[in-house]
Amino acid sequence: MPHPDRPAPAPDAGRGLARAAEGPDLSVSLGRLRLPNPILVASGTFGYGREMAGLVDLRRLGGVIPKTITPHPRRGNAPWRTVETAAGLLNSIGLDNDGVEAFVAHQLPWLVDCGAPVVVSLAGATAAEFVTLAARLDGLAGIAALELNISCPNVSHGVDLGTDPEACRVVVAGVRAATRLPVLAKLTPNVTDIVAIARAARDGGADGVSLINTLQGMAIDWRRRRPLLGNVVGGLSGPAIKPVALRCVHQVRRAVGLPIVGVGGIMTIDDVMEFLVAGASAVQVGTASFADPTASVRLLDALPAAVAELGAGSVADVVGTLALPAAASGCPAPVAAAPSPVSEAPPHAR
Ligand SMILES: Cc1cc2nc3c(=O)[nH]c(=O)nc-3n(C[C@H](O)[C@H](O)[C@H](O)COP(=O)(O)O)c2cc1C
Repeated sequence: MPHPDRPAPAPDAGRGLARAAEGPDLSVSLGRLRLPNPILVASGTFGYGREMAGLVDLRRLGGVIPKTITPHPRRGNAPWRTVETAAGLLNSIGLDNDGVEAFVAHQLPWLVDCGAPVVVSLAGATAAEFVTLAARLDGLAGIAALELNISCPNVSHGVDLGTDPEACRVVVAGVRAATRLPVLAKLTPNVTDIVAIARAARDGGADGVSLINTLQGMAIDWRRRRPLLGNVVGGLSGPAIKPVALRCVHQVRRAVGLPIVGVGGIMTIDDVMEFLVAGASAVQVGTASFADPTASVRLLDALPAAVAELGAGSVADVVGTLALPAAASGCPAPVAAAPSPVSEAPPHAR
């Protein structure tokens, strides 16, 4: 007997029931990049996968993004390189890595054998270096996509390519021309207008954007009157930055027609669902893996029930379904039109 408050079953309700028994479809597509599920692990927080393989069944992941590689080996920054903060982590690793050739020879074959899609994160000091790296990786077996780290705050000139729209467009266009692989541009939140940078990435030919890298921050030991990080400033990650990341996903989703991978402070299944609803087609788990190396698969285990709770048959059906209040843009209101904070702000915001 149909419930009076629910619509009558659709003609293909039988198939719907079969789908319900199987669970929701977790696969997602970001342009040409198709992933078995939307839970990836973020660059720099999961080593090269090898370090975590004893704890996590890597084959289950939507994707593994190993530590960013550069053209040549880098020693990274002086210690301390990580400091825990309230609700977050500050790091200034400085892209410590063995360089592209060591990665291709020693890490990539092992990673590819693991069975999860491999998204290779790369960074150069110039657009030309990005292009050279992309050309080197093009055609190597087992790479699902490239992620361009034009947003690392911990190397000199590290964020320049990600803070200037034209520089961003040029580097993405150069990489686009050098590879057939899908290209994700990983953007920094340390800009005035993330939409302008995302548009530039789209104009350069990116298949999608990863939002966001860390926010610049600092920690101080006031008794010694010294900064705690050897590099003085570093990148803030973890739950503290989730609202910023959600805002970036929301704004880019509304203004730019590009698939989005959400990253920033994801610890729980509620966090994952918030990013999907805001408009991310997939997410990356970063700092959470330091607190619990199994965080990514724990979130994957919880995903089908959360998707089903929304009555959706697939993750794709959840993406970008945020319902906004009438006339809300999600962008800062012009000063003249701003509501009076005293008379009109909701009680919790006062
Ligand atoms: C210790 C550490 C190292 C990181 N290294 C990289 C890196 O090599 N490349 C990169 O693109 N992002 C790097 N990130 C940024 C993360 O991939 C992610 O964008 C950021 O931490 C926000 O996500 P989270 O709050 O879930 O950690 C690093 C983050 C941390 C905490």
